[in-house]
Amino acid sequence: MTVRKIVPKKPWAGRFKAGTDPRVEAFTSSVAIDRRLYRHDIAGSMAHCRALQRAGVLSAKETSKLITGLQQVEAEIRGGRFKFRPEYEDIHMAIEARLTELVGEVGGKLHTGRSRNDQVVLDLRLYLREAVVELLGLLRQWELSLVSLARREAGTVMPGYTHLQRAQPVLFAHHLLAYVEMAERDKGRLRDALRRINVLPLGAGALAGTNYPVDREYTARLLNFPMVSANSLDTVSDRDFVVETLSALSLVMMHASRFAEELVLWSSQEFGFVDLPDSVCTGSSMMPQKKNPDVPELIRGKTGRVYGHLMAVLTLLKGLPLSYNRDLQEDKEPLFDAIDTASDSLELLAVIVAEMTVRREELARAAASGFMLATELADYLVLKGVAFRTAHAIVGRLVRARLDQGEDLMGITLEELRTFSKAFEKDALDMLTVEGALERKSQIGGTARTRVVARLKVLERELRAEA
Ligand code: ARG
Repeated sequence: MTVRKIVPKKPWAGRFKAGTDPRVEAFTSSVAIDRRLYRHDIAGSMAHCRALQRAGVLSAKETSKLITGLQQVEAEIRGGRFKFRPEYEDIHMAIEARLTELVGEVGGKLHTGRSRNDQVVLDLRLYLREAVVELLGLLRQWELSLVSLARREAGTVMPGYTHLQRAQPVLFAHHLLAYVEMAERDKGRLRDALRRINVLPLGAGALAGTNYPVDREYTARLLNFPMVSANSLDTVSDRDFVVETLSALSLVMMHASRFAEELVLWSSQEFGFVDLPDSVCTGSSMMPQKKNPDVPELIRGKTGRVYGHLMAVLTLLKGLPLSYNRDLQEDKEPLFDAIDTASDSLELLAVIVAEMTVRREELARAAASGFMLATELADYLVLKGVAFRTAHAIVGRLVRARLDQGEDLMGITLEELRTFSKAFEKDALDMLTVEGALERKSQIGGTARTRVVARLKVLERELRAEA
């Protein structure tokens, strides 16, 4: 960094003899990041003007001048005509400076009874409550893509896994709906966070409150806040709602990442369960045959960023004395990036789910393969009065013997079964179908067709009602 000319004339320059070092200007400026708050800043300022008018601080004429000016600034920014000069410390200063250029001296009255400390947190809350509503919508889109695939593939079976080893057959729809359950919890957490985001901070001033008789409940009504914050010191220093959002988004990304991991596995030649749409894959610059699942891989990778952002903000906050500290300016970049990352990831997952091809025969073959039905045989013995542990041991020996013969469970005869236990009778062979194995798991939460379809219906109805 080189020292160039010292730029004077900050709104707070009164008590300073010298101007700011340009390196400090660059270091402290946040306008490149917080400019995305411009609409919220202007909406907050307009409500503040009205509250000041009602308190008798601004005349009707001044108020309307300020509001018209603010509308003009908003139009300039929206139209891309606004010059964000880096010497504006932040979006709040940038807007006020331009407003004053436009409306003259009365622009200087906007900041009466307000500090950037309550202003910035107002902007952040206004922004975040919109962003959270959008995220709820994107989660719903992902869920809709999953339930409609579950509907389309209602008959499809697949191997269920534990330890990534084939375990027991399940319905493909059951597997998809597991992610819908996760997304439902994600939405619950975001909605819960929304209640604490939705609190009016304006009126806390710099830290102690304001000398002007503003009616904070009036401002809250103007801005649609159901609650007014109760302690000015807490108000300007609280970023719990940022942490809560980042925490909820970390879980969103964890779920997205686990699903992405399954897509990577399923689309591999080793699994061959699905084909991802060409539009979300990329090729190799060297190997002509490659089609790589880059989008799921990047979702998995970007999850780490969001976790990092959560840690960054928690760490940012842990040592701060009350009340406002400039450190707090560092909350926005991680928050915004987490929101962008989660939004993009959810949007793309919904596209992939809607467009991928499910290879039913491969899934069905894998579901019936190997020893997926061994547990059914053990449970058959239990039905015949054998203790489960004994039954488990008997079937374990049977599996071992078949493995040694290079066979799986398919094609086993009653005679062979009876060499392991006389409790096997001819209905034992009926246990060895995927359909039967599924249908027996008919308790709440099980993979039986009727259960899965019933849950699917409930989820479809709930998702429809959310529109
Ligand atoms: N840009 C700051 C932030 O994002 C708000 C400004 C408060 N600055 C101050 N010197 N009190 O937190």
